[in-house]
Amino acid sequence: MPAVNNDTPTTTPGEDEPVRLLLIGDIHYYRLMTWPWRLLGKRLLGQLNLWLRRRRRFDRRLLPETVRRAIELAPHRVLMSGDLTTTALPGEFAAVAAAIKPLIERHPTLILPGNHDRYTFSAMLGRGLERHCSALVPDSFPLRLHLNGGWDLLAIDSAVPRMLSSRGRVGKRQLNDLAKALDQTPAERGVLMLCHYPVLMPAQRQQKWDHRLADSAPLLELLLNCRSRTIFCHGHVHEPWLLPAVETTPAAPPTPGAGLKARLAEANHLTVLNAGAPCMVSQRYPRGQGFWEIALPPGPHEAVAYRHHAPGDRPGEPWQAHLHADPSQAGRIEADSSPL
Ligand SMILES: [Fe+2]
Repeated sequence: MPAVNNDTPTTTPGEDEPVRLLLIGDIHYYRLMTWPWRLLGKRLLGQLNLWLRRRRRFDRRLLPETVRRAIELAPHRVLMSGDLTTTALPGEFAAVAAAIKPLIERHPTLILPGNHDRYTFSAMLGRGLERHCSALVPDSFPLRLHLNGGWDLLAIDSAVPRMLSSRGRVGKRQLNDLAKALDQTPAERGVLMLCHYPVLMPAQRQQKWDHRLADSAPLLELLLNCRSRTIFCHGHVHEPWLLPAVETTPAAPPTPGAGLKARLAEANHLTVLNAGAPCMVSQRYPRGQGFWEIALPPGPHEAVAYRHHAPGDRPGEPWQAHLHADPSQAGRIEADSSPL
């Protein structure tokens, strides 16, 4: 299995030390084109959507301070779960790469492509993300990285170009390789999985057909059968959340029957973590949804510390950090914030 080229952290945690990771989700950097009608097909629709809606919801000015805060935290490793751009135009890749440069130069970073980074078939062939963030996007997937004495990272590529929809696909070859990788992982090691698309949503919610991972059912099956403690990190849905499997429902139909519900209720080994979108503003997050800091202990069965970092409500106010209880060990660590 391949390894990313920048695997030389400035401060590498020892095998017996916690490893601190930052999970940064959908940045959706964009450039407004003055003459969007010169574009064709899906990109034309994407630029029109930008002009009409998205530019009011995504504030690009929040990215530099997100980068500054991430650097202050001095993580061992940064994980980006994809959708750095909006319509995968060369100018968007160049601009977002320049904006995150201070962070990715200082700290080992792994970047997954999201569906917006492979917006069209020509964007996929152009490999804009790979060209502008060279060595940070793995050449092939699944990628396995040893994090510390207790945890491994497994990264999956789920982004594919589509004519119109935003559906993702992992594919049979990658699912087979992932099954083998999980099989080879000793049950006593924890697995942090990174994928752009969710496979589980908060209970009572389902994704629209055109936003789903087409093969989320076999991926969920692998997660449910996994013997190791697993944290499934993803982006794509712009809302940070941290949930135990029992409080989730599959992202795609069929609506879970009693059998699947019971399996989710028993899947104490599985936690899902949604990165959120650092530049997306809303009533709840007026200055963006921030990002997560995850401290993985050397013992995979010890409590994981999940801290959500978000900017203060007004410019100039300090960032806030909230420690969330590890859903797999509720009550064993003190949380200073209600669940997301
Ligand atoms: Fe996405």
